[in-house]
Amino acid sequence: MTDLTVHLTQNDVVRGLRSDVLTGLTATRKTLPPKWFYDARGSELFEEITRLEEYYPTRAEREVLADRADEIAALTGARTLVELGSGSSEKTRLLLDALRDKGTLDEIVALDVSDAALESSVAILREAYAPATVHGVVGDFTQHLALLPGGAPRMVVFLGGTIGNLLPAERAKFLSALRDNLRAGEWLLLGTDLVKDRDTLVRAYDDARGVTAEFNRNVLHVLNRELGADFDVAAFEHVAVWDEQEERIEMRLRATRAMRVRIPGVDLEVDFADGEELRTEVSSKFRPARVAAELGDAGFELTKWWTDRLSRFGVTLAQATGA
Ligand code: AVJ
Repeated sequence: MTDLTVHLTQNDVVRGLRSDVLTGLTATRKTLPPKWFYDARGSELFEEITRLEEYYPTRAEREVLADRADEIAALTGARTLVELGSGSSEKTRLLLDALRDKGTLDEIVALDVSDAALESSVAILREAYAPATVHGVVGDFTQHLALLPGGAPRMVVFLGGTIGNLLPAERAKFLSALRDNLRAGEWLLLGTDLVKDRDTLVRAYDDARGVTAEFNRNVLHVLNRELGADFDVAAFEHVAVWDEQEERIEMRLRATRAMRVRIPGVDLEVDFADGEELRTEVSSKFRPARVAAELGDAGFELTKWWTDRLSRFGVTLAQATGA
């Protein structure tokens, strides 16, 4: 058992799930936030997605970090690396290695909603980066950015394109809250998937082996287990569509017959019409100008921006400007 700072108990997590399910499944257009994919099984499926031939973002981002980690370390001279949604941390280690080699690294902060995931990643990081201090913080990056530990200058690392899972208003709120919790001169390293042709995008979210379909349906297993719901998971089909207007992929689950679902944990019965869709994720794709504009609006100045060789994925280094 490692010493974790807990801003979010497992009770809070279930309360958040109940609230999201009540709001999302009673709406005219049904939705669920994508954060509920990631139980142990969902996290495993996501790892499997990152190894799929069709799912390019992970490899493209890794290419950028492998090529640029030394440059990022030199530009920032970061003493603390803060990783939001730390997950498996594998790409972050490219940055940690570079900061250690440069000799500035002395603290690491990993923030994740899953205490189990943190337990193991904190132990691994402590071993790999001793004598650096490693803080594990159980929290939600949309709620618990205040009081992040670590000496300045900190570099907050938000990778994987996860910012694309937030809606525009949520993104603005998140980036401003992050800026407010940094001092002028501190850093943000942000990974964003980029707008590209429809075919490449849809294939990345609707792979031939059906791993993404299983990942998508997993959220219904989560509701069945955590809330005692009786979703017939096999009666929902995976849908991935590119919304040209909004420049985002949407994942949905489509009911293949009319059905009534009971969800005792929120005391709710929900009816689905045949063909009705439940939106489970938006994954926004960016153009460079939009990344710069959204960062600027939140009080960050863009320092440098890189893409992989095929310009599929962007990594932006930005600095908190003076208040
Ligand atoms: C890595 C969390 C941003 O939107 O690409 C992968 C997750 N969803 N396949 C993404 C995901 C469907 C994902 N994030």
